[in-house]
Parts: sequence; C-alpha cells; structure tokens
Amino acid sequence: MSETSTAAANIGVVGLAVMGSNLARNLASREGNTVAVFNRSYERTETLVSEHPEANFIPASTYEEFAASLTAPRTAIIMVQAGRGTDAVIDALTAVFEPGDIIVDGGNALFTDTIRREKAVRETGINFVGAGISGGEEGALLGPSIMPGGSVEAWATLGPILRSIAAVVDGEPCVTHVGTDGAGHFVKMIHNGIEYADMQLIAEAYDLLRKGAGYSPAEIASIFSEWNTGELESYLIEITAEVLKQVDAVTGGPLVDVILDEAGSKGTGVWTVQTALDLGIPVSGIAEAVFARALSSKPAQRAAASALPGPSEAFSIGDRAAFVEDVRQALYASKIIAYSQGFDAIVAGAEQYGWNIQKGEIAKIWRGGCIIRAQFLNRITEAYAENPGLVALVTAPYFTDAVATAQDSWRRVVSGSALSGIPTPAFSSSLAYYDGLRAERLPAALVQGQRDFFGAHTYKRVDLEGTFHTLWSGDRTEIESAGSSH
Ligand code: 6PG
Repeated sequence: MSETSTAAANIGVVGLAVMGSNLARNLASREGNTVAVFNRSYERTETLVSEHPEANFIPASTYEEFAASLTAPRTAIIMVQAGRGTDAVIDALTAVFEPGDIIVDGGNALFTDTIRREKAVRETGINFVGAGISGGEEGALLGPSIMPGGSVEAWATLGPILRSIAAVVDGEPCVTHVGTDGAGHFVKMIHNGIEYADMQLIAEAYDLLRKGAGYSPAEIASIFSEWNTGELESYLIEITAEVLKQVDAVTGGPLVDVILDEAGSKGTGVWTVQTALDLGIPVSGIAEAVFARALSSKPAQRAAASALPGPSEAFSIGDRAAFVEDVRQALYASKIIAYSQGFDAIVAGAEQYGWNIQKGEIAKIWRGGCIIRAQFLNRITEAYAENPGLVALVTAPYFTDAVATAQDSWRRVVSGSALSGIPTPAFSSSLAYYDGLRAERLPAALVQGQRDFFGAHTYKRVDLEGTFHTLWSGDRTEIESAGSSH
C-alpha cells in the first residue's frame, strides 16, 4: 500500500486500553506529533477521540485506514496485553505496512519472543522494535522511561519521537537505544525484577518496623517519608508512605490492614529469575521477592502452618531510633545488592545475545519515569562512567563505602529477625550473597570434593595446573584426569 494524500500522522498507536490511550495522548501533546489511533473495537477509538478533542487524533476503523493515515516510514506502537494478541496485531500490521516501516511493541513482552518476532518481521523488510515502557498509567501519559531495542535504522526514526514523550531528568530524556532485537525488552524485564526486589525489601522494612518495634502504619508512613529525603529517595518509598497513610473508609483503620496479604504477579519477575538461572547469574534478591509473593499466595499452606512453633523472644530493641536507622541501613545495603545483581544479569544477557548495552546509560534512563526511579541511580551511572569494566556494582568505591557503613546494622537486623521470627528473605539472602561474594574461600571446594566422590566429576587444585580425580573407592590416591572439571 503506498502512502496516500490523506496521510498526516507521523506516529500511530494500536490498542487503546489505559496504557495505550495515555501514551497516545502523551504523543499528541508534544510539538510536531500527529497521532493515528486504532483499536480492535472501534467504539473505544471513538470514545478516546471524543473525550480528547485537544489531541486531534486521526481515528481509523480498519488496519488499511490506519496505514493510510500514516506518513512514511509508517511508525506504529502496539500497546496490547503481551502474548498472542501481540502476534495477531503484528500480522495485521505487516499485511498493510511496507518495507522500511516500523512496528513497535510497547508491551511487556518476553525478550525471546521479541527476538523471534524481530527476525520474522525483518524478512518482510519492515522494522520491528521491542520497547520496554515503564511508569504505569501516569508515566505513559506524562513521561515514561523507555527501553527500545531493534535496529539502528529504526532508532533513527523512532528516537526523536520517543525522546519527545519520555520523562526528562537533568534535561535528558529517559530513553536510549538499548541494543538490537530483544535488548530493550530484556532490560525492561530486569527493571521489573529489580522492581520486585525493591518492593519486597521495602515490605520487609515495614514488617520489621511494625512487628519488631510496634510502630503503626501511620508512624511508618512518616518514617518512610523521612527516608525519602535521603539516599533512599525513590518513587517506591514515596508511594509506600502514601499507601501506609491511607485510612480505610469501611473500617476506619489503616487500609493496609484490610488488604488481603496475597501478592499477585504478571510474570516479569519470574522471567527475570528464569533467565538469570539460565545465564548462571545469582539474582537472589529478586528470586526471594518472587518466592515471597508465591508463598503469600498459598492460603491453605499458610493456614495449616500457622500453628507451627515460633520463637519465644520478641525482637530485642533498646533504642527505637537506633533500630529504625538499622532497618534503613539494612534496606539500603540490600537494595545495593539487588541492583548489583540486576546489572550482573544485564552484563551476562548482553554477552549471551550479542548486545552492546551501556550500563551507565541504563541507570540514567531509569532515573525518571519508571517504577524504580531513584536518586541512587545517579551513583550507578557515575560508577560505570568511572569504570566501564566494573565487575560487580557493589565493588565500586561509593557502594563499597555505603555497604561498609551499613553492614553492622544489616547484620543486627538479619540476626534479630531470625531470632524473633520475622521473615526477611530478601534482607537475609542479600547479606548471605554479600558474604559469599567477599569470602576468600568458599565451601564450594567441599562441594567439588563431594561431586568427585560420587560421580568422578573431577576438580582443580589451587596449587597445580590440570584436572584431578581421587580414587575414592580405590586406594584414594589422586590421579590427573584428561577432561576438564565441570
Ligand atoms: C512498569 C511496571 C509495569 C507493571 C508490572 C507489574 O515498569 O511500569 O513494572 O510493567 O506494573 O506489570 O508487575 P506485576 O503485576 O508482576 O507485579
């Protein structure tokens, strides 16, 4: 189909549920954009157009009309629920688009699906870009953080459009070309994994303040608001204070007390952990957050286990202000570990899939618009700017100092929570990871010995080159083995 004289829109949006509508309105509000809109049911399109005359949307009732309303290269952002619906829309768009046009998937697609789709769409000469978009409904409307993958050629057209709608921090739009094919959705997936860890860590801090020190939700809201003025300053801490402040209209008590304590999920946290397992990267903070949601959502097991014995002692707290500071430090240190692990997964993913991902740029585009936006991300950008080859974020001087300051508090909180029976899976596993990472010797040596004993899996020695096996069921002499130890 060639461009017709009616083509007037430089960008189109397919899928007009809340995220899609808000993104379309955001696009329309920026100088230079004219936005075509399409939805499977035309009624929704009509409603959006009539409710927002200021946007001057160009509505389309068929894919043909939609394509005809776009100027070349046609560029359309798909905003539908990730899954099979995405494939159906891609098929419909490829049928009416032409080589050089650009199809963007702005949903939370699994990055391997994006790699597959990019490959298939490329065959037609059309560009396919998987773009992670973070910031929820408000972000979509006012300025999200955007993580596009896809080709450099597509980025040339798409870049200015996405820059026009992204959140802006220190004059810089929160969008960068992350890498080719699925790189954008991969990084968005890790963003969500970190989001899970961040949320779980905050929830554990709340639980400690509530059950350990006996603070009320309103008091904890004030503590979080105070924390939000320091190094923990972030969107998630800010909204946590809002949630804790909220009074339930029905009971007159704190809303948090009447919300069922079973956390849901849509899958991106699970994907992060599955992917990290495949890549061999310990993302224990994120994994604990996923598991904590899973545990919360097992009411029958929890009911059966509620009679299990707990400790006799409550959390032993001398000075309450010192305890609050301990929890804050434990939260900060664990958060550093979660990000350090998340960036490890990005590095490993980039290597595995051949993406040239600039870690500092990722931290930069996460400073605004997205759910994990935080002051702290500036420190990550600086750390990678100082040392692009940084092997673990936590080893950057700023973070090493932060953890050095925090560690006594962190240890007190983790040991106190174990003694008093307050579950802190993310705090505890982050500390265990930290101690494992910094250990000069790990008991992995013993695991290698065990593996060699039962399976002749061989081992390496600290003092000699080569691979070895002990004749465990023979005379227990050591022999050199031909294979390499795995
Ligand atoms: C974002 C969010 C967004 C969404 C997640 C929540 O970056 O804007 O991460 O993608 O809120 O889907 O995930 P769960 O429903 O799994 O908690």
